[in-house]
Amino acid sequence: MAIDYKKEFKKLFKTIAFGSKGIVGLDIGLSSVKIATVESKGGGSFALTGFTKVNLPEGAIIEDEIQKPEEISEAIRQAAEELKLDGLNCCLGISGPNTVARKLQLAGGSADEIEDQVLWEAEQYLPFDIEESTVDYHLIGENEGGGVDVIVAAAKNDVITNFKELVENAGGSVKIADLGILAVTNVFELVMGDKLDNPEEGYLLLDIGAQKTFFVIYKDGMIVFTKEVNVGGVMITEEIQRQMGVNYHEAEDLKLTGDENGNLPEEILEIIDDVVETFFSEIKKAIDFYISSTSDESLSYCVVTGGSSLIPGLLEGLEALLGVDVSVLNPFDVISYKEKDFTEEEINQIAYQGVQVLGLAMRQT
Ligand SMILES: Nc1ncnc2c1ncn2[C@@H]1O[C@H](COP(=O)(O)OP(=O)(O)OP(=O)(O)O)[C@@H](O)[C@H]1O
Ligand SMILES: [Mg+2]
Repeated sequence: MAIDYKKEFKKLFKTIAFGSKGIVGLDIGLSSVKIATVESKGGGSFALTGFTKVNLPEGAIIEDEIQKPEEISEAIRQAAEELKLDGLNCCLGISGPNTVARKLQLAGGSADEIEDQVLWEAEQYLPFDIEESTVDYHLIGENEGGGVDVIVAAAKNDVITNFKELVENAGGSVKIADLGILAVTNVFELVMGDKLDNPEEGYLLLDIGAQKTFFVIYKDGMIVFTKEVNVGGVMITEEIQRQMGVNYHEAEDLKLTGDENGNLPEEILEIIDDVVETFFSEIKKAIDFYISSTSDESLSYCVVTGGSSLIPGLLEGLEALLGVDVSVLNPFDVISYKEKDFTEEEINQIAYQGVQVLGLAMRQT
């Protein structure tokens, strides 16, 4: 049996990338489809050359269940058209309950031996059948025990297939698939650079999106824990819809722009405060779980990204909750762009909402 899934090994996550030039990043989130194109400048530096975001209708995708396939494919097609892409070959982000990213300590050895260990370990803890999933790993390096640390990425084949179909129906093709949470972490590593070297300091990285929050604990040069927490900005949108009797788009508008003077009415601020409390209790639960299972209390900084990190009061609240400094990840600390190609507003929007898709686009090299 082991032989069978070995054949599948790495297929999806790495080796589909034949001739990887011209591959764009594609992130299908709850609120929008995003595409980014980047150019490698060599030596690990990158320049953004294109970005676009096409909003999706309400509830197009719930967790990883595709509810509105035609609308999503249409949004992908539209995004590719806006960027005038010459064919859509992409590195696609995958996430949701049928994916796993986890650090493992293995005995090490040759590449084949490591692969065997990964598969054996993965079989023990994957919450879904390994024979129906694709497993890949990223080697981090040797550990103190003489073995190796790896990050194992796994996704159920169904999920990958369903997402690939969306892209194919839009006339495109998926050349690489990567876990969204790893793409975000790659950008985080690039931006933070040497700051991550201090083994005493742990970082909490949060990508707070519309329906989910990626939760990553990063320490001593590697991911040590990841989780997808089911909280995000759409909870506020839904509550505005419910309490104010408006539709999804009106509620999003109210949340993002407020009244004609750009102020958020008291009613909405109250809704936000309530929902943000739920956010915090879920984040706290994830942290408590991490601390109780590892006894690691070294959390020193929190870095956030994602559209919902703009929710008024969120950063201050997180700071109070965690008792550590909270800052916003700025991908443009390390990724360059031509000023004539983007407005300041666009760059701001990409800085918050584009980290995952930038990380995916960077996988081209
Ligand atoms: N200025 C803002 N204030 C509050 N919320 C905002 C602001 N800008 C964007 N958002 C919210 O951010 C969310 C979109 O962020 P993002 O693009 O990161 O999510 P997504 O990737 O589509 O969702 P997910 O990753 O959960 O599938 C929406 O819920 C949107 O309402
Ligand atoms: Mg997202």
